[in-house]
Amino acid sequence: MDEKIILGIETSCDETSAAVMKGELLLSNVISSQIDIHRRFGGVVPEIASRNHLTAVIPVVDEAVNKAGVKLTDIDAIAVTYGAGLVGALLVGLSAAKSLSYALNVPLYAVNHIEAHIAANYISSPELKPPFLAVVASGGHTGIVRVDGYNKFAMLASTTDDAIGEAFDKVARAIGLPYPGGPEIDKRSKLGKADIEFISHKHRGSELSYSGLKTAVVNYLHTLEQRGEKPNVEDVCASFSKTAVDMLVDTAVNEAKRTGIKTLALAGGVAANSYLREKITSECKANNFTVYFPPMSLCTDNAAMICARARGMMQENIPPAGLDLNAVSYLKIQSE
Ligand code: KG4
Ligand code: ZN
Repeated sequence: MDEKIILGIETSCDETSAAVMKGELLLSNVISSQIDIHRRFGGVVPEIASRNHLTAVIPVVDEAVNKAGVKLTDIDAIAVTYGAGLVGALLVGLSAAKSLSYALNVPLYAVNHIEAHIAANYISSPELKPPFLAVVASGGHTGIVRVDGYNKFAMLASTTDDAIGEAFDKVARAIGLPYPGGPEIDKRSKLGKADIEFISHKHRGSELSYSGLKTAVVNYLHTLEQRGEKPNVEDVCASFSKTAVDMLVDTAVNEAKRTGIKTLALAGGVAANSYLREKITSECKANNFTVYFPPMSLCTDNAAMICARARGMMQENIPPAGLDLNAVSYLKIQSE
């Protein structure tokens, strides 16, 4: 199994990506981003995303195969994201993956996007083995997942409303920053003071919730506007980031203490956030926990993580999907 060559395809949102892995080695990871196309609309427009995936997917697959130095006929398995994501966007990747699986006569693995974000850690840290706690911080999902095996997950805590990435993007929009808001807030946070209290400690509790925080920031901006005052953007960004991230890190540390699992791994686009990386590193150091996070290139959407997730499925003989595989827009982690 270990030298099997997997071609992964990811088209769940606004990045068209294809990657090739041979065993635990990543041979190529090509990402064609549509961010510039969607920026002027202030967010991803689903129909435009699907159309752009359609024109990009074959050239991106070709480039990934060429960069990997392999031939299509060397591929042993195809892996594709089937959810969660935008249904039209997912269908483009699925159609390409099914065609390749059929034409090359190789198995097709149906990959859950969020589980793949967790598996990104296996590429950069091959020494990481379950059990560990995954701190999932993405655009659509937020929570602490107990990873009991390569294919065994249990959701321990999850947001009761918005995801953390969604909150970053919505707050950025309210401030007037371009899409995607997460990296913009990250940049400005470094220049600001985190001294605005959007949610009192008393209300924060141990629950993960981002909708109230987002509303608190929006209300704060409105109040200033009504007074004819301008916000200090850097301070708003720093204060929001600190509140959002601390809530997640506190929950992760509590779950690590409660379960006795002392290894943590960050997953999802918000894992690229510099304050989150710093904060979780210092908290883990203080508590004698070990923390892993993928390099920036493997934090946001990419197909390398799709290969890594399928590898775990192949290692434990999870059956491949049939050619009737469909896209699932709302897909949760497959908790036991
Ligand atoms: O995990 P992801 O690809 O989305 C889902 O799979 O749902 O991550 C995208 C999210 C966006 O909300 C984006 O703003 C956020 O990750 N993000 C960041 C940073 N880089 C990306 N948020 C905060 N700081 C960053 N540096
Ligand atoms: Zn993602």
